[in-house]
Amino acid sequence: MTANKAPVPGPGILDIAPYIGGDAKLEGIEKPIRLASNESALGPSPKAIAAYTALAREIHRYPDGSADEFRHALGEHYRLDPAQIVCGSGSDELISLLLRAYAGPDTEVLYSRHGFLMYPIGAQSVGATPVAAPERDFTADVDAILERVTDKTRIVFIANPNNPTGTYLSVGEMTRLHAGLPANVVLAIDAAYAEFVNRNDYEPGVKLVDKAENVVMLRTFSKIYALAGLRLGWGYFPPAIADVLNRVRGPFNVNAAALAAGVAALNDTESLEKARAHNDRWQPWMNERLAALGLDPTPSVGNFVLPRFAESGARTAAAAFAFLQSRGILTRKMAGYGLPNHIRITIGTAEENEKVAATLAEFMDS
Ligand SMILES: Cc1ncc(COP(=O)(O)O)c(C=O)c1O
Repeated sequence: MTANKAPVPGPGILDIAPYIGGDAKLEGIEKPIRLASNESALGPSPKAIAAYTALAREIHRYPDGSADEFRHALGEHYRLDPAQIVCGSGSDELISLLLRAYAGPDTEVLYSRHGFLMYPIGAQSVGATPVAAPERDFTADVDAILERVTDKTRIVFIANPNNPTGTYLSVGEMTRLHAGLPANVVLAIDAAYAEFVNRNDYEPGVKLVDKAENVVMLRTFSKIYALAGLRLGWGYFPPAIADVLNRVRGPFNVNAAALAAGVAALNDTESLEKARAHNDRWQPWMNERLAALGLDPTPSVGNFVLPRFAESGARTAAAAFAFLQSRGILTRKMAGYGLPNHIRITIGTAEENEKVAATLAEFMDS
């Protein structure tokens, strides 16, 4: 017996730098402009709100653990086999489940240098070693990723488009990445922002999943579908991987409100088109304003932009973040992503975007 010893967590756990979400509150300001978490500019579909509200009297019931109605609605909408769809409490949970099932101590998990932070955090939490491949022009570099594959690699995570850079891999590049991977390595394509992309060389990953046994596509209802608070994600998997995830997930991992609101949001194509049109208008508008201010934004195709500030002097990213904050605008610091000279700004309502652009112009002029 080893008495008087504190419990010790698994390998790697204490090396994790916890994920820090975007700020939601600002001292002294009742309703700050919240552009720190890539949430929807327009808010949820009225149909999703109605479905959520209608559920209130049923919350003593467990949710449908198989998410049957939601998976069938997705299957119909995207022409996919519902048996190959697995849902999660946000796509974050699906990232964790993949890691739990396929990675672990003495394995490696590959991602691109400025990829979504939950990939390295999730890898560490199962004792795996996260390996970052350098990017080219803030874009995942297929050759650099393939060069880092070893016999310990189990999963390659690519956010496409990537958060926080907003850049994307074309279907040709993604196919080349897959072709270079050993068959035992899972290629996880995280298409959280897929619905915002309006490029004709982009594909969210369905076609690769259909062709291969080691490709998965993750999606979320937190972004364009505006249900971040309910936590609803889903993925399209080869049958064998869907079977594995159904074994490791909790029996009621997605709550009833998320499932009800998700079906309603999916069926509300009018709200989806409004959100898409809004981003199509304001995202390029914002990038043009940032470029005119000399802030060299990345060519983002998501619902966010990534301007770059001076490394030193009065107009650093930290100073810009603080200046925006002083005007009630919350954005995201990027040092945790290895981008200390950038901040990430979510596309907001027309009024919010205009205020951001005017405030940044004032900052650059100050
Ligand atoms: C690339 C990417 N993947 C996954 C997620 C997680 O989303 P969810 O809310 O579905 O867990 C995010 C959220 O910001 C993201 O940016």
